[in-house]
Amino acid sequence: MIELAPAKVNLALHLRRRRADGYHDLETVFAFTDFGDTLTVTAGAGISLTVNGAFADAAGPQSDNLVLRAARSLAEAAGVTVGAALTLDKRIPVAAGLGGGSADAGAALRLLNRFWGLDWPEARLLALATGLGADVPACVASRTCFGSGRGDDLSAWPVALTGTPILLVNPRVAMATGPVFAGWDRVDHGGIAAGAALADLRNDMTAAAVAIAPAIADVLAALAKTDGATLVRMSGSGATCLALYRDSSARDAAADSLSHRGWWLAPTLLR
Ligand code: C5P
Repeated sequence: MIELAPAKVNLALHLRRRRADGYHDLETVFAFTDFGDTLTVTAGAGISLTVNGAFADAAGPQSDNLVLRAARSLAEAAGVTVGAALTLDKRIPVAAGLGGGSADAGAALRLLNRFWGLDWPEARLLALATGLGADVPACVASRTCFGSGRGDDLSAWPVALTGTPILLVNPRVAMATGPVFAGWDRVDHGGIAAGAALADLRNDMTAAAVAIAPAIADVLAALAKTDGATLVRMSGSGATCLALYRDSSARDAAADSLSHRGWWLAPTLLR
């Protein structure tokens, strides 16, 4: 059995306040792409994980992988005693604002829910996902949605975006999330109204991320100059930036025009 772990993007991310628990209350528009990691499972003794793919080394020790935490927490909660031999093809850059580890954990919950024949409804998987990280519930859903609280209080986003051409661009700088949150100036510029025009929204972590990795500003400026871009924004805490395009040929022309920069590029579609 195989499951796609779609890359996560934040089409907008508004920071509201720092919380006593060290997290931040935020409001975000999550979306997901046809590009992602893949997770496969076969029968095995115990729960095991092998990581392959372009970013396997960057993903760190396999024993620490969030996929294993997700698998073990589902097995424990559901009383499963049979094993699962998992293989992750790591194609999403790590520490990139694309929710890679969260996407993999979300895919693990969906995949093992099928593989073990549990038939849990999504709401039950979402509740388990909350304990695995702020972005994991959104990655279980893997569809465009609005997130508030830590990003794990989800509701529908009223605008359909499926099939929108998107280009992901990463300047090959790994970004730890914590320092970017810590660099926020703590000015609340307001929340996100349901269905607001994405162009009127922001990513409030951009300035703090650019201060750590100035190459992000180069990526944003280069994307803003491409023909047919309808939205240009950093995703999550960076360093990946995204542009939405009016059509796939404009997206592909933009990717071609940036290919000499040495950046990581992924032309894809929103799901
Ligand atoms: O939940 P997760 O482990 O993915 O979060 C990683 C880090 O991102 C947290 O330790 C915290 O520093 C930061 N974070 C935050 N507020 C959020 C989500 C994440 O401060 N809403």
